Amino acid sequence: MTLLQVEHISRSFGPHAALQDISFSVSKGESVGIIGRSGAGKSTLLRCLNGLERPDSGRILLEGEDLATLPEQRLVMLRRKIGLVFQHFNLLNSRTVAANIALPLEIAGIPKPQRTQRVAELLDLVGLGGHARHYPSRLSGGQKQRVGIARALAANPTLLLCDEATSALDPETTASILALLADINRTLGLTIVFITHEMDVVRQLANRVLVLDKGRIIGRGRPEDVLAPSAPNTADLPLPAGFSTVPGNSSQTVLKLALAEQDIVSPLLEQLAKQHQVNATVLATQMRQNSTAAEVDVLVQMADPSMDIIAFLKNASQSVEVLGYVPADS
Ligand SMILES: Nc1ncnc2c1ncn2[C@@H]1O[C@H](COP(=O)(O)OP(=O)(O)OP(=O)(O)O)[C@@H](O)[C@H]1O
Ligand SMILES: [Mg+2]
Repeated sequence: MTLLQVEHISRSFGPHAALQDISFSVSKGESVGIIGRSGAGKSTLLRCLNGLERPDSGRILLEGEDLATLPEQRLVMLRRKIGLVFQHFNLLNSRTVAANIALPLEIAGIPKPQRTQRVAELLDLVGLGGHARHYPSRLSGGQKQRVGIARALAANPTLLLCDEATSALDPETTASILALLADINRTLGLTIVFITHEMDVVRQLANRVLVLDKGRIIGRGRPEDVLAPSAPNTADLPLPAGFSTVPGNSSQTVLKLALAEQDIVSPLLEQLAKQHQVNATVLATQMRQNSTAAEVDVLVQMADPSMDIIAFLKNASQSVEVLGYVPADS
């Protein structure tokens, strides 16, 4: 069932077209990621979805009501169905954690006993049970964002919008906030539309991705179809410029060889050239101390290796791994 339907919206600031003819829809329970370069129009789009920004043209239907043209008073009511999570949390430092979470409920005129009950539920949901009376200044970034999420959920929204919710957090905290958002999406069935510049966030949280560029949607689909596979972890070996996990028209192959000792690198490459007429270039080497000996990892580049060559390399090495590809002239 469609929750949100965006039809041909455009928005300009003076001569600058921030959004141009954007159309997409979001089903109930989906989690949609919006990615794109800085200035692509992501935040402008999210502000339109929440009615803070009015598009110049087009319609934004939330459960059938058009946010783009609704009178201000009605818009204020409709906006209560939309929770917002910000990059920099936007908490009030003079209010306790509980009072920050209660704020949207106060504004909506919910009586005190119900507010208290709801805030207790939300504190539990985001894992901040013991922090009700604390002030934001003594919370970690991750805890602050948990308060931000609880506040966004306070009025039981049907749609949660997140603008770079994890961008100010370290990787570990990011993972825990993502797990919380994924849990809210799955267990509460809450629909989420989020902006991020971290591809890992998209992989973990999105069912679907929209790619914005210069105000237009230039890509859409499942994360695994839209995003390139993530680069392999080569520890201390730097990947060459132009490296990709997908081959191009005239690319060469990049392999990682684990060899028993440094001294065999040159003879191995000479043998490869003499016996197999393959010229391999060493891109990087890295010594690795094993429990018994110092092994060496070697990153090499060569023309697409045949099965014979792979077999030859495997015979001479501890391990052989095809990592990806580089343009032939690099
Ligand atoms: N209120 C405004 N007045 C004038 N120009 C604006 C306004 N809001 C946004 N813009 C412009 O519209 C374009 C899109 O901005 P937007 O903030 O939506 O980009 P973004 O994709 O969120 O970028 P970032 O990743 O840096 O947050 C930018 O060129 C920006 O300068
Ligand atoms: Mg932005």
